[in-house]
Amino acid sequence: MANTMTNAEVKRLVIQHWERRAADFDERPNHGLHSDAQHQAWREVLGRLAGPDPLRMLDVGCGTGFLALLLAELGHQVDGIDLATEMLERARAKAAAAGLTVYFQTGDAEAPDAPDGTYDLVVERHVIWTLPDPPRAVRSWLRVLRPGGRMVLIEGSGGIRQGQEMPAEYAEIYGQLPFSTDRSSERLTAFLQDQGVVDLVVEPLMDPVLWGSANTGQRYAIIGRKPRYRDALPMRSA
Ligand SMILES: C[S@@+](CC[C@H](N)C(=O)[O-])C[C@H]1O[C@@H](n2cnc3c(N)ncnc32)[C@H](O)[C@@H]1O
Repeated sequence: MANTMTNAEVKRLVIQHWERRAADFDERPNHGLHSDAQHQAWREVLGRLAGPDPLRMLDVGCGTGFLALLLAELGHQVDGIDLATEMLERARAKAAAAGLTVYFQTGDAEAPDAPDGTYDLVVERHVIWTLPDPPRAVRSWLRVLRPGGRMVLIEGSGGIRQGQEMPAEYAEIYGQLPFSTDRSSERLTAFLQDQGVVDLVVEPLMDPVLWGSANTGQRYAIIGRKPRYRDALPMRSA
């Protein structure tokens, strides 16, 4: 498809899609939490990825609050941003029902409205594929991270494929979403490295309990870090 839409027009269709999907989003086995075993498996993964110390975190494209709420349960201070108000409404309702404090607000994952260096950790799950300008997004995540802060992207190799039946909104825009059709961990890692993310590590997330199914394709977390100031200094000879 010809590249004819502005990024604002692409995002208007993305928002339209997720407003429409919000009501039953959590019902899918790979979206919501459907058993104690699934809940425990995600707590274990996120506990390990985040580490034991309480951190200030930003969940970009938080949707109905999947990561944000689990991370708040684990004792972290989490902000969640999304462009779909219906998704955010559900996230807020789930936080209230669970007695958790998470600050959910409308915000663009490509341009979080936070001062430089605010967060220890930026997280996302299943979001980079639906962004029209991933380099802008990663630059903004590096900006809001403190030096040495980390980002965790939970992603999968699946995606929209040409010829496959796809939701109406995405049929119009997938050609303008650079990661809509190929999100291999190798491609995403190389991209993040190009954006200046360092110490990149890929952790497979293939336990079927996490996704409610064994048939999930490649699932993984990519963990990277914003360089500390001293990382950027030239090596001194002895
Ligand atoms: C597949 S859902 C994932 C939701 C959540 N991260 C999860 O793991 O359940 C994608 C989410 O990204 C949000 N989204 C898409 N583009 C966005 C953008 N530019 N800024 C903020 N949120 C965005 C959508 O509204 C939707 O809630």
